[in-house]
Order: sequence, then structure tokens, then C-alpha cells
Amino acid sequence: MKLLVTGGAGFIGSNFILYWIKNHPEDTIVNFDKLTYAGNLENLKSVEKNKNYSFIQGDICDPKAVDKAMENINAVVHFAAESHVDRSIINPSDFVETNVLGTQVLLDMAVKHKVEKFHHISTDEVFGSLKLEDTNLFNERTNYNPRSPYSASKAGSDHLVRAYNTTYGLPITISNSSNNFGPYQFPEKFIPLAITNILENKKIPVYGDGLYVRDWLYVEDHCRAIDTILQKGKNGETYCVGGLTEDINNLEVVKKILNILGKHENMIEYVKDRPGHDRRYSLDWSKIKNELGWKPMHDFDEWLEKTVDWYKNNQDWWKNVKNGEYKRYYKRQYGSV
Ligand code: NAD
Ligand code: TYD
Repeated sequence: MKLLVTGGAGFIGSNFILYWIKNHPEDTIVNFDKLTYAGNLENLKSVEKNKNYSFIQGDICDPKAVDKAMENINAVVHFAAESHVDRSIINPSDFVETNVLGTQVLLDMAVKHKVEKFHHISTDEVFGSLKLEDTNLFNERTNYNPRSPYSASKAGSDHLVRAYNTTYGLPITISNSSNNFGPYQFPEKFIPLAITNILENKKIPVYGDGLYVRDWLYVEDHCRAIDTILQKGKNGETYCVGGLTEDINNLEVVKKILNILGKHENMIEYVKDRPGHDRRYSLDWSKIKNELGWKPMHDFDEWLEKTVDWYKNNQDWWKNVKNGEYKRYYKRQYGSV
């Protein structure tokens, strides 16, 4: 099989490529990535010489480049996106361009080249926000109610993917996953931001009251879920993919990280809340478990510790990333924290 992976130089995309080459060495992978601030080919150093792997620098909004990349492709796995909520609040237009228009260009070319499978990576954020006191979880039948420019643009892309299935018969699947954590995550996201700030002896900015709840999924569990869907998923279906945490809030997550690193809670700094901050995400992943036999296997506490170790042992990786552009973004977002 020949796969086109979009956004393969980002956090989840690069973990997916490493996972795929290890588990399906007979397949060929083409990584198509624009290399925005979030794309980093260092993540793929260990496979760059593999004869079944190649890289194309390109923009999913560019029909000619996508047309060429799609030649002889059997399956598309679409990760490429602008992915950070806070940046979407500063500049929504990049999100609409890449996440909505870019997805439409990819879909057009997938139809033209008659690809056998188009798997779209989406997020639980399209479902909106749950209340802390609610007992219900998001599932595949939950109505869409996105509340940030990021989640609205991802919702738009999900609708387009389904529309191309109905209208043009493109064989598609979608996964809506919860918050991922693990190696190679860009340190603008909460867990790597907290870990790397502590390692630099800087405070950890916690938005609002810190009682916001996320469902945390170890990135390798996510990669295995996508593999399972590619092998066994039904055409046109959506699968919710979540982790093993049960309603853990941001303060609890930070306290665990501080504890692993032997640091005091006085490193927490409460900062101005994110506008429109979704209170709680919680995901019911029983459909993929019952229909396809997937379930998460990585315990949060154990793999959080391993993730902290990874950032401790790969300081060059994140110090290179916390560069000029990052410093400008950080100052704008957090001021002097
Ligand atoms: P990321 O920001 O780490 O990586 C995104 C990658 O896409 C980068 O390599 C970037 O260079 C590339 N890219 C951006 N715009 C592009 C364009 N126009 N053309 C080609 N490449 C482009 O993101 P991530 O955290 O790895 O997320 C990957 C996907 O998973 C996204 O679609 C995101 O919405 C989804 N997702 C992420 C999470 C999470 O917790 N990180 C959870 C659920 C879903
Ligand atoms: P994030 O990693 O940005 O993921 P998302 O908002 O897409 O779920 O944030 C995870 C949670 O952590 C979210 O509730 C916002 C919060 N947060 C902070 O409290 N401080 C920060 O500096 C960041 C980046 C996030």
C-alpha cells in the first residue's frame, strides 16, 4: 500500500509515520507537509533514509502540488492542520485556509485520483463543551457545536469530508480524538509547555481557575486507532478515540508533572483565561472498541512520567523549537510569565 500522510512533520503525524514504518515496513509513505512553525523534520531523522519513505514540502491548499503528490496513492491519512486554539483566537484566517480550504483541495484530488481510502483526523472539540456537573460524554451522535475558530474550522472540514462521501462516493473515515500527549509535541500545548517551562525553571501559566477538564490520550494509542480504522473501519463512518483518564483537570495534570520533577506548586501561575474556553471534554470510545476491537492501552500516570523523561532527555529538540518565532508568540500570549 502507498500512503500519503499530510502534516507528517507535526506531532501526531510524525509519531504516526514512525509507528507505521515499524509496524508495516512493506508499505510506502509519502509525507506531504508545508513545514509551518509546527512542522519539524528532526522528528523523522531516524527514518529519513528508509527507502519506503519520502518527503515533499508542499501546501495542501496548492492544487497542483497536491495533484502531483496524489499520483498512485492508495490511502490518504490527513493530519495537516493549524492545530492550536490560542493561535486561532489571534489569527483565525490561517485556520480557515488550511483546515477548510486545504481539506477541500485534498478531497478534490482524492476523487480525481480515485484513492481507495481517505482518513480524516479530527478532534472532540467539534462537539463543543460539557459542563463539569454533566454526566454525559461526547459520542459519534453528539451534535456539532464548535466554539473556537480552531474547532469551527475542524468542524467545517469534517462536514466536507462527509459531503464528498455522499456526493462523489469518495471512501472516507473520520476519527475525532481527545487531547494527545507524548514525544515531539510542540511546546505551545499545555503538557509540553508545562514540562519544558519547569525544566527551564519558569512558571507554568494556568488559565482561569485551572478546573478545565480534558480527556488525555497517549499518542501511540491514537496511531494504533488510526491503523485499526484503516484496516477495519467502515466506509463513511466516524469513530471517537479517547484515553484512559477520567475527568482530570488542568491543575491536577500540572501537579502530577511538578511531582514527577520534584518541584513545588509555587511554580504555578494563574493567568488570564482563554476567551470562550471550553470547560470540559469527555469522550465515549465504546463504538471503536465494540465494532473494531481497539482500546487505549497507555495509562496516563505511567506515560506522563515517560513523556516527562522524553523531554528531559531531548532538550536540544525543544530548545531549538523555543526559538525566535516561539518567543514572540509566547510574549504576546503570556506577557512576562
Ligand atoms: P501540529 O500542529 O503538531 O502539526 C501540524 C502539521 O501540519 C505540521 O507539521 C505543519 O507543518 C503541517 N501543516 C500545517 N499547515 C499545512 C498546510 N497548509 N499544508 C501542509 N502541511 C501543513 O498538529 P498535531 O497536534 O500533530 O495535530 C495533527 C492533527 O490532529 C490535526 O488535524 C489536529 O486537528 C488533530 N488533532 C490533534 C489533537 C492534539 O491533541 N494534538 C487532538 C485531536 C485531533
Ligand atoms: P491545549 O493544550 O491548548 O489543548 P486544547 O485547548 O486544544 O484542549 O490546552 C489544554 C488545556 O490546558 C486547556 O483547558 C487550556 C489549558 N491551558 C492552560 O491552562 N495554560 C496554557 O498555557 C495552555 C496552552 C493551555
